[in-house]
Amino acid sequence: MVIIPREETRLAQTEPAPDQRLYIHNLVKRDPLANLADDVRKGLAAQPKRFLPKYFYDELGSQLFEAICLLPEYYLTRAENEIFQRYAGEIVAAVDDRITLVEMGSGSASKTRLIIEAILQRQSQLVFMPVDISRTAIESSSRILLQSYPKLTIDAYAADYFTGLAELGKKPRKRTLALFLGSNISNFDIGEALRFLRALRSVLNKGDALLLGADLKKDPAILEAAYNDALGVTSAFNLNVLARINRELGGTFDLHKFKHVAFYNESMGRIEIYIESLFTQTVRIEKLDLEVEFAAGELIHTENSYKYDLAGIARLAEETGFACSRTWLDSQERFSSNLLLAS
Ligand SMILES: C[S@@+](CC[C@H](N)C(=O)[O-])C[C@H]1O[C@@H](n2cnc3c(N)ncnc32)[C@H](O)[C@@H]1O
Repeated sequence: MVIIPREETRLAQTEPAPDQRLYIHNLVKRDPLANLADDVRKGLAAQPKRFLPKYFYDELGSQLFEAICLLPEYYLTRAENEIFQRYAGEIVAAVDDRITLVEMGSGSASKTRLIIEAILQRQSQLVFMPVDISRTAIESSSRILLQSYPKLTIDAYAADYFTGLAELGKKPRKRTLALFLGSNISNFDIGEALRFLRALRSVLNKGDALLLGADLKKDPAILEAAYNDALGVTSAFNLNVLARINRELGGTFDLHKFKHVAFYNESMGRIEIYIESLFTQTVRIEKLDLEVEFAAGELIHTENSYKYDLAGIARLAEETGFACSRTWLDSQERFSSNLLLAS
């Protein structure tokens, strides 16, 4: 016999079960290999060779990112979490009216819990609309959140940012607070960041808000350590792209013959991440019917992480139909949470 604790019995009688409060729209293409295959083919034909950062996040990659967030060198998650622990109440109070919460690239949504809790202190129910390319991250984070918060309903989108935004644009919403956390904005170059923020602004109404998490420029040694951790988790996260191509596209990458490279390019204000081929070698990718040559020392670009200053964030806001109304920093001033109001 299963004994249900009294608290759970009460919840079960008054609140719909988590499954009835969850809708997941799976918009990752019907044939998910098609995008990966096309982009890998294009990326390996490019000069220099490159992979898109969104392909880091298969099931294993999403888990590896969660491990990165626990690393002593990777201060970003802890700094943003510290800001929310201190200021979530203020952040939420800066948005008037009942809030619908949207999050782009929500991942495990661990830090989002602090924002959800602050909102639920002001209103009795909350609709949360996360968008993430990783279906497994959307599913597991949604179930965990619904177990924790009986007053929460989730309308989730397993989708690329732009597909997710197109769907969000079709749904009438109350006052919206959108989150773009973890310095995800850093992965875009300036043109992509402008395009993304304009697309996001186009699905918001005047007075809606975006909370934009952005990592700040600082001592290059601190930045470089964050992407070159001693345990090698960031290296595993990066090389997992090759492992993913092996698993999903029948690739023959020998991971021992490649290495993770990350450094700060001061003139561009960004961390650049690559995979270096250690030898001259040929790799076959069965499902693409493709053989690719790599020179010894050749770099494949996998990600940039741009570092911001507050003036740069204000400029991004102004050029995309927002006004930066407030900024909160962690105690060591490493990371910024910026409230941009749709103007
Ligand atoms: C660096 S993690 C940050 C996760 C979380 N927001 C945080 O702050 O810890 C990036 C997240 O964005 C998602 N993502 C990356 N590229 C994406 C894209 N093009 N469209 C939708 N989601 C994407 C990944 O699956 C991952 O969950």
